[in-house]
Amino acid sequence: MKLYWIFLVFLTINLSAKNISEGESLYKSVCFACHGKNLEGATGPKLTDVEWLHGGSKEQIINSIEKGFPEKGMVAFGSVFNSEQISDLVDFILSRQHGLRSMEYKVYHNVTVETKLDWQNQKPDKQLKLNFPRVNLNLPEVDQFGLSFKGTILIAEHLAGDYTLKGLIRQQNGFEILIDNKKLDIKFTDKSRFEAGLKLVEGYHDFEFRYIKDFKDGTLLLDLEGKGHIPISGQSIQKSMTSSHIVKANESFTITRKRIQALPPGSIIVNHQDRLSYAINPKDGSIDAVWSGKSLDIGPNIYARGQQAAKTLGKQLFDLSESIELLIDGEQRQLKFVGYANKPSPKFIYRYGADELSIESFLDDQELVFNYISSSPIEPDFKLSLPNGLDFIGAFGKREGHIFTPQNQSFFQISIPFEEVK
Ligand code: HEC
Repeated sequence: MKLYWIFLVFLTINLSAKNISEGESLYKSVCFACHGKNLEGATGPKLTDVEWLHGGSKEQIINSIEKGFPEKGMVAFGSVFNSEQISDLVDFILSRQHGLRSMEYKVYHNVTVETKLDWQNQKPDKQLKLNFPRVNLNLPEVDQFGLSFKGTILIAEHLAGDYTLKGLIRQQNGFEILIDNKKLDIKFTDKSRFEAGLKLVEGYHDFEFRYIKDFKDGTLLLDLEGKGHIPISGQSIQKSMTSSHIVKANESFTITRKRIQALPPGSIIVNHQDRLSYAINPKDGSIDAVWSGKSLDIGPNIYARGQQAAKTLGKQLFDLSESIELLIDGEQRQLKFVGYANKPSPKFIYRYGADELSIESFLDDQELVFNYISSSPIEPDFKLSLPNGLDFIGAFGKREGHIFTPQNQSFFQISIPFEEVK
């Protein structure tokens, strides 16, 4: 009798392993192109975290695969694969789930590194669950505080093993990190970088980050590196999304600041390979014009060779009267422009309140794509107001009239199809 049970258990484990590997080979034959080799996301969303656009239960994922999202580029696979194959695909996707699962934070007002804080028993001044689990030190509205983030980290079977927790923070005291209720032995490798080694077996692990502000800024990078990479802080998640969501097109571009006719002073111009250009406004993050063809008329009218403003060349897709405006809580805001990066693609970084938003562009075949990535752990209310006549594809959200509402406030994308001017 006992033997029979063991045999049955063995058989079911083996069967599900077989389903997963069948699912894996299907995944690697079609889905990887859009969702990434490791399900990390590319033009399609990441499939390993808790941020599902269309639901993360087995039934909901089956539904997503069967019906597809034809308007977003994913065909309905219900007519391509049979139900057993789709079920194998879902088993494979579910077996790959990992990373932060749920998180709540507690704020303790007026605590300093010198004051003692009884993390177990002291009553917090504020306690909230986060929609998108991540650690962010910029949350509280008070100057001096203690902050704890408590959540769980899921380790998938294929990712179990030895890990190094790597971090960057501007203070060496006043914080501790616990995994499975045990304090990690943190060692600083320079003024602000630290590390701790640990072992993570398959399954759920309790995670806690305790922090008392030491009058420094709230920079925090926190990543688990081992068989997998698990970003834990908002800034780390933002960094990993920027690198994984970008289609690596070999392209060159230039970023210039020139006075241009019919565009606000201070506009920054990005020219992608003389195929397509746009102007972005450093004050409010709006895309004020997009035109195909050459970037600027660099005739005799640029600064220092005459005081007239340069003209845009090529075909205008839309101009200032119809710019793509970034709306926060329903209105256009002045943002703090932090600066831009030019690797691997043009990226403009803004601060709003305590959080960061970056707008990054790349050319993908016949589309100009903008990625909007925010570090906010709570949902701000971002929307985009789009030019009326233009043909847009909004990934990760829905469009009603000229308003695009992202489903996920921490990452959304729009693409503008264009035709090459020869
Ligand atoms: C041509 C690109 C493309 C291919 C190929 C593709 N997908 Fe997708 N997929 C997308 C896009 C884009 C979305 C996002 C839809 C949206 O924004 O609503 C998506 C969404 C999904 C979702 C829903 C995700 C969520 O967050 O709820 C699942 C599940 C999914 N795809 C699975 C698959 C599987 C499995 C395959 C292979 C059989 C596949 N996809 C192939 C582009 C693609």
